[in-house]
Amino acid sequence: MQELFRIENLCMAFGEKEVLKDINLEIRRGEIFALIGPSGAGKTTLLRILNFFEKPTGGSLVFEGMRLNGAHETPYLNTGTTRKKMSLLFQAPAVFNTSVFDNVAYGLKVRGIDKRIIEKKVTSALNIVGLFGVEKQKARTLSAGEAQRMAFARAIVYDPELLLLDEPTANLDPANVAKIEEIIRRIRIERGTTIVIATHNIPQVRRIADRVGILLNGELIEVNSIEGIFTAPKDARSAAFLKGEMIY
Ligand SMILES: Nc1ncnc2c1ncn2[C@@H]1O[C@H](COP(=O)(O)OP(=O)(O)OP(=O)(O)O)[C@@H](O)[C@H]1O
Ligand SMILES: [Mg+2]
Repeated sequence: MQELFRIENLCMAFGEKEVLKDINLEIRRGEIFALIGPSGAGKTTLLRILNFFEKPTGGSLVFEGMRLNGAHETPYLNTGTTRKKMSLLFQAPAVFNTSVFDNVAYGLKVRGIDKRIIEKKVTSALNIVGLFGVEKQKARTLSAGEAQRMAFARAIVYDPELLLLDEPTANLDPANVAKIEEIIRRIRIERGTTIVIATHNIPQVRRIADRVGILLNGELIEVNSIEGIFTAPKDARSAAFLKGEMIY
């Protein structure tokens, strides 16, 4: 599979605190890549860097062959063309006090996109997440599961090439978890979107991902196929983590 994103010797520190240490990883076009690891391992930080929300303190990112190592400022601005190709669904997405439609349309509206195009894109996104029919409802009155699907629609309304998902099924019941997983599969199949998902749900990794990376204290200790990680993990700590044991 063709490479979409390459992460080279990536380091991130907040003051004295090193949160990501020498990360090397290739994200392939069209794959579903799961990022797992204990709380505080650095998953959200890595997703924020991949989305150009945060500048790493070291290393470089190569997106679609373009090297971005701090010298290029454009992707860190909202107007950067590279940034428009990716979308991050936050761990705790905000819900605006407007209708479901307006919540999903927000990002397109502020960019001054034509009304008919907005209508079409929002409708398509709401259809994918199974929320078409409640577009006029106040977003704050949605159930937690529906609100998460709405946030999903907001993340895919731009039709990003890369979708970064930060624990999209945390705090959801099994029925809603299954719905979100189905949406993830559909987006990949229907739109060819490349997906990176941070999750604590190990069975979910097995169900939806092609490959997986395990972060531990800011280090990427293993990258493997799903088959490989569950049958023959390369690192003893990976095996322990997958069994639900504490790892350090
Ligand atoms: N802006 C910041 N300033 C200082 N430290 C930070 C900042 N952002 C993150 N950290 C620290 O970086 C470490 C990694 O945090 P991160 O949120 O990436 O972990 P995580 O793997 O997403 O955890 P969880 O599974 O609980 O969501 C934590 O120790 C956190 O306190
Ligand atoms: Mg996190």
